[in-house]
Order: sequence, then C-alpha cells, then structure tokens
Amino acid sequence: MQGSLMKPVLAAAALALAASVPAFSSRADEATLGSAAASAGRYFGGALDPGAFDERPYRELAATQLTCVTPENAMKWGLVEPLRGEFDWKGADALVAFAKANGQKIRGHTLVWHSQLPLWLINGSFRPDELKDLMVAHIMEEAGRYKGAIYSWDVVNEPFTDDGQWRRSIWYDAMGPDYVAIALKAARAADPAAKLYLNDYNVETSGPKMRALYDLVASLKRAGAPVDGVGLQSHFVSGAAPKDIQSVMEEFAGLGVAVAVTELDLRIRLPADDKALATQAADYASVVRACRATPRCVGVTTWGVTDDRSWIPSFFSGYGAALPFDEAYRPKPAVAAITQAWIGPP
Ligand code: XIL
Repeated sequence: MQGSLMKPVLAAAALALAASVPAFSSRADEATLGSAAASAGRYFGGALDPGAFDERPYRELAATQLTCVTPENAMKWGLVEPLRGEFDWKGADALVAFAKANGQKIRGHTLVWHSQLPLWLINGSFRPDELKDLMVAHIMEEAGRYKGAIYSWDVVNEPFTDDGQWRRSIWYDAMGPDYVAIALKAARAADPAAKLYLNDYNVETSGPKMRALYDLVASLKRAGAPVDGVGLQSHFVSGAAPKDIQSVMEEFAGLGVAVAVTELDLRIRLPADDKALATQAADYASVVRACRATPRCVGVTTWGVTDDRSWIPSFFSGYGAALPFDEAYRPKPAVAAITQAWIGPP
C-alpha cells in the first residue's frame, strides 16, 4: 500500500516514542480498547495485515488493544488460491496463530464476495453448476481449514447495490438469490461452531439497501437458513456517522440475529486539525454507544488500527486519518472517547 518508503522511518519514530512515552501500555490499571469493551461484555476488534507482524509497534498495539481480529485481506479468495488448486495459507495461518497467541477472537473475512477473486475464476467461463460447485468447495476448504478457530465468518459480503437491488456478480448470475442460502449451508457444514454473517456497507442507516438486507435476513430466517448475524461495515465520513444506527441495529436484532460493527472507520478530509479529530472522536463514541445500548450487538471492529496502514487514502482521494491511532501509533482523541463510551455511564 501507500507510504512503504516512509514505513521504516515511522517505525523507528514509533519505537523511540514507545521507549520514552508509553503511547500504549499493558499496565493493568490502564484500560485498553479491548478491556473497555470487555467491561460491557463486548469485544473491540481491528482488521490486521499479517505482513506487518514483524513490525514491533504494530504487533504490540494489535496484541494489547484488540480482543478480536479480522484479516483485512489475508483470507480473501484471490489471496488464498491465486492459481486453481494451488493454495497459499501463509497470511491466513499467521493471522490465526497471532490471535491464538493473544487470546483474541477471529472474524473470518470473507468467503463469498464479488471482489478480490482470483483471475482463473473470473476469466474461467464456468457454467452455473460449475460455479456453484466451486463456491461450495471453496467454503468447505477455507472454513474447514480453520474449523473451531473462527468466532464468526462473513459468509457473504456486499450482496446488494446502494439502491437495494441484488448486486450482479458471478455468484448471482449463476444461482440468483439462492447463492446466499447455499453459501450459508456450506459454511455451517464446514464449521458448525462459527457464527455466520452477512456483511455490507451503507446499511447502517434506514434506506433501500438496509431494507433489502433486512428483507433478505427475514426470508432466510423463515426458510430456516443458518444465518446468525448482520455485519454493518460502517465506513463513514467523520461528522456524518448515521444518527439512526442504533435503531437500525435494533431492527436487525428484532429478526433474532446478532449485529456487529465490522469495518468502522471515520475518514477526515485532510489535513486533520484538532476540531476534525474532536468531531471524529464524538462519532466513534456514538457508534460504540449504539452497540453498547443494543443487547444483540456483540462488538465493534475498526478497519485497521493505525492510520499508516489504512485503506482510506488510496481508495478515497483527499481523505485519511480515519483510525483511532495515528501514523506514529499515538492514540488520537478517539481512543479516550471509545474507552469512555464503553465504560462510562450509558
Ligand atoms: C479492502 C482492503 O482494506 C484493501 O486493502 C483492499 O485493497 C480492498 O479491500 N469492504 C470490505 C473489505 O468488505 O474487505 C474491503 O477491504 C473494504 C470494503
């Protein structure tokens, strides 16, 4: 990703910083994001890049602050099976080992998606019945490999477009809406203990896309399909986090499923001044408070941990500073706000 030239410099700066001022600490009397969430019976998670585990400040921060981890990319189909039948589990295995070593839950991400697929699959001109078999085999392979280790799987990611229509994808084109139930059943068979989620963005506020996901979960429940949760990705612009996110959580929870904030970030139009950081902290707190107030909301995950490895600058031009820790691994005002939102008065 961006900034690779700067990384050694930043890492060195962070190391020096860690030696002088404990920017993050494992002292028992100091709350971490994870321990604060635990006091409310929830987890606090982050998306991680196993390629950065050898960078000590990154590893330390991820190990001490988080009680749940998501592979940002390492479990996506294109990465684990770049050539047909040739698997590369290095990153995914490293993520699982890291989580085990640190007593963290794992959110598996993601089994069935339209994006980051291997070229052999996209360009393969497979028949519909072949695509169904490939999808099921992939789920059995990957969810089977990590059976028992995964707390929850994002089984299907981003099934709808913003207007609430089914998103066209090789899966939808081959099987129609049935692909979702087929995928869920395969995931349940592969790892019966994992909680099975549908995950999407722009579903955190009431609207056509949220409604489409709601109707889908309702119909899956009626049909007895194994769906356990709804993931609200929550990629927001700072200052514009939806005001009705708690009522949206409650609506989904009313269907008898869990909800989770799965990919939270609050991007700021750069440069980020003190006012922008205060606004961001307030938005982080409001999302955490919504989860805390919703009994079926199991936890909050941010899409990364520190700004130096966030996907935002390369995907949203002019934006950045989206995560709770800055590029030098220092806590931003968001950290105290999140902690307070978990442990303070409701
Ligand atoms: C993003 C990663 O952060 C990037 O590194 C990658 O290049 C593209 O995917 N919704 C999702 C995530 O479910 O998997 C995406 O992650 C961000 C949007």
